[in-house]
Amino acid sequence: MDYQGSTALITGASGGIGAQFAKTLAAKGTHVIVVSRSETTLKELAADLHDEHGIEADYVAADLSKPRAGEELVDELDNRGHTIDILVNNAGIAMHADLADTDRDRVRDQVSLNVAVLTDLTTVYLQRMAKRGSGAIINVASVAAFQPVPHLAVYAASKAYVLSLSEALWWEAKRRGVKVLAVCPGATETGFFEAAGADGDSVGPTRSPSQVVDTALRALENGKPSVVDGVLNLVATTVSKLVPQRISIAVAEFAVRHSGPQS
Ligand SMILES: NC(=O)c1ccc[n+]([C@@H]2O[C@H](COP(=O)([O-])OP(=O)(O)OC[C@H]3O[C@@H](n4cnc5c(N)ncnc54)[C@H](OP(=O)(O)O)[C@@H]3O)[C@@H](O)[C@H]2O)c1
Repeated sequence: MDYQGSTALITGASGGIGAQFAKTLAAKGTHVIVVSRSETTLKELAADLHDEHGIEADYVAADLSKPRAGEELVDELDNRGHTIDILVNNAGIAMHADLADTDRDRVRDQVSLNVAVLTDLTTVYLQRMAKRGSGAIINVASVAAFQPVPHLAVYAASKAYVLSLSEALWWEAKRRGVKVLAVCPGATETGFFEAAGADGDSVGPTRSPSQVVDTALRALENGKPSVVDGVLNLVATTVSKLVPQRISIAVAEFAVRHSGPQS
């Protein structure tokens, strides 16, 4: 990858893994555009990255779970004259609850953010990158992509979609000069668990956002379709495929309920 002088669009960049993608890429000389709902945080992050690394840093405050959010974001970036070389579809949310107990609007927002806008941005920018014969798309999936997870059912299904989409597009896009990668983190030290209504302290060993980003960029450079971050996470996803499904689902439910507020 030629990071120096490229431009990266990173969704969900006000904190956690997305902010770390912005910091790591900026340190490599990549111009960054950071997107999320928290305008003040984005503005400060963009200013810091510009001051520290001398790159161009822009931001867009947007709720990407809203209808037509992808279209509006692309129009805004076009109006500002940005060409996107690296797309990081990172914004994502989860909800710790049985579907029968979950508010319908929150389920719809989750699918819109984790699936719909990710697909829309991927479509637009993949087509443009393919025309230019270069570019990269990193989609942030999860270890939850590898099996059904009760109490986190829509989230796990959304990440299975992200993983499947990314691996298929990796094959389609490579002959057009574009790299596509799904990175699958396990528990990572971010605000994710709190936002999902879970207890981040009881999820077991965690990894840092910088470990996740380093894993992703290494895999991208090696031309992989997907990568699981961390050896323990890799073992867990491999074992879950080897044991009978009712056991892997029961274990997944135990782990998730144990870290949720209703446990
Ligand atoms: N942390 C983990 O253990 C873990 C594990 C596996 C996968 N992941 C995945 O990693 C990705 C990043 O999560 P994280 O761990 O860094 O969590 P995080 O710290 O909660 O960050 C989530 C980011 O998404 C943004 N966001 C949330 N709702 C949004 C919306 N409606 N529109 C626009 N932006 C929105 C948030 O910013 P605003 O609040 O400012 O909008 C924030 O910047 C997600 O896709 C998540 O599924 C995380």
